[in-house]
Amino acid sequence: MARNDEFLYILRNANPIETVMGSYVNLIRRGRNYICSCPFHSERTPSCTVFTDTQSFYCFGCGAGGDVISFVMKAENLDFMEAVKLLAERSGLEVPDNNRRDNRSAQRKTRIYEMNRLAAKFFYHNLVKGDNKAGLQYFLNRRLTPQTIKKYGLGFASDSYHELTSMLRSNGYTDEEIVDAWLGGKSERTGKTYDLFRNRVMFPIFDLRGNIIGFGGRVLDDSKPKYLNTGKTPVFDKGSNLFSMNFAKNSDSKRLILCEGYMDVIAVNQAGFENVVATLGTAITPDQARLISHYCDEVVVSYDSDGAGRAATQKAIKHFSDVGLRTKILRMEGAKDPDEYIKKFGAPRFRNLIEGSDDANNFMLDRCEEGIDTGTEAGKVELLKRVSNVLAEIESPLEREVYISRTAQKCDISPEILKSHINDIIRKKKNSKKMEEWKSIKAKTAYVRDDINPDAVKYKKEAKAEEAIISRLLLRPDDCEMIEAEAPADIFVTEFNRRVYTAVLSAIKNSDKFTLSLLNDEFTPQEMGKISGISAENREFSVTDQALKDCADVLKKHKNSISADQGGDISEDQLRALFDSKRK
Ligand code: GTP
Ligand code: MN
Repeated sequence: MARNDEFLYILRNANPIETVMGSYVNLIRRGRNYICSCPFHSERTPSCTVFTDTQSFYCFGCGAGGDVISFVMKAENLDFMEAVKLLAERSGLEVPDNNRRDNRSAQRKTRIYEMNRLAAKFFYHNLVKGDNKAGLQYFLNRRLTPQTIKKYGLGFASDSYHELTSMLRSNGYTDEEIVDAWLGGKSERTGKTYDLFRNRVMFPIFDLRGNIIGFGGRVLDDSKPKYLNTGKTPVFDKGSNLFSMNFAKNSDSKRLILCEGYMDVIAVNQAGFENVVATLGTAITPDQARLISHYCDEVVVSYDSDGAGRAATQKAIKHFSDVGLRTKILRMEGAKDPDEYIKKFGAPRFRNLIEGSDDANNFMLDRCEEGIDTGTEAGKVELLKRVSNVLAEIESPLEREVYISRTAQKCDISPEILKSHINDIIRKKKNSKKMEEWKSIKAKTAYVRDDINPDAVKYKKEAKAEEAIISRLLLRPDDCEMIEAEAPADIFVTEFNRRVYTAVLSAIKNSDKFTLSLLNDEFTPQEMGKISGISAENREFSVTDQALKDCADVLKKHKNSISADQGGDISEDQLRALFDSKRK
């Protein structure tokens, strides 16, 4: 067994997929296997299965799948080596040197992390020790303590076009790399590289592993743009990271406070709450909601109290409910955001505000009244329409009942009528949801087919036969000699399946114990998903020796028909029709 394979084998054994996945999602035992709601798409009914014998997972809904390494790659957004390192750390193993297959893209990321760290140190030093005290004065005016400034590694970028770039250059980074990291821009006119962040206080953004992935920079006055954030780089994905999540993830609280701005997060944290985060200058995404759901049960949305803040709150409620999080809404009066509130009324009153935060349902119901004159008949009807749609979204029947009777009283109609109306809406929604889920599953399956094994569209029957053969091989690697004798790789029709079959055969022959992980090298995560799918979808009926022969026959027949003449595309049914017509 090659050294790499041996290590991967040990690594996989030390990290059973059910344990690793169990720390991300709630697994429900089904015999030897487990099912769960797919961590990679939003769903209410679990369609993801974890197979303990092959140590793989597969989602029948979205087609995601693979082994424990591909799971971690997907869940944490890591490349292969990073995922291996993470699992090694988790299980106290050391990655052998010759296993470091750091490719160019991993090296590029490492260089950016290094540049970011240097830049953050530079900004911090500038803030605390630099001649220009404007940045420090700004933070002190906003009542940040030196401890908070240090904890968040805040900094100051002075009003210079070359300070940072010169420093990075003298540390051995090329202009190209500096632009790559979004720390410098390239002038169209002169072709020179210049500092992007100038005369701004700086907020470094950390990922969960403590790497600095980017920065937010705020002007010191009212000029525009108020904040400048790192753009898209190989390490900065603003849709899947959260500001201060590196601190919040260590909090024991089952509750997370979500704010709109960096300054809010820092003020709330300084007031004694470790469990507070913000998005990186954008609206919250389903990805971020899912990440949050791994760390807590309840989110308190503490957005600004203006119109935009309320609209954003409504969107956030939807994303959180999709991932099963309880959502509460902070109601602030006398201040526009948490930072201002704490400054005005103090930390203890903010704590009361958090404790007394309102249910998301009340927020949604109140929002229904916006822009309606409830004094008129037409207004009342419109209100009832909107309110019914909100009530129909409440999942717990008990909770729904409470809100229905409260609303009926308020709108002055009979609770029975309101209830039956809402039940109608729920029924319709359920049906259309089922249709949608079904459509999206179909669309995704078609996509997977086209994308990964394009030949399968034309050769459906053959591809099915090939997949049955591969699944037999995956489930019974010990039979590999018999299987290969029965179905040699050259009778395979579709190219992708032949590649998989050949790779699995050679992995089995070259290692003492076969695991799906051995394929991780040669196949992309999408392809790994497809391979897990092949084994998952053929489990229901076991591929017997006879079935194996039949499948091989289908492929051999195809091969013969091609060599006999060009009628290879004629299906059995068409052939039979041809014979029948001749007989007549
Ligand atoms: P201050 O208290 O004024 O420092 O700001 P804030 O933290 O209260 O932020 P605000 O509510 O104004 O905006 C919320 C978040 O939106 C900020 O933290 C930024 O991430 C983002 N944001 C605000 N203004 C801009 C802008 O001009 N450009 C970009 N890209 N993002 C912005
Ligand atoms: Mn603010």
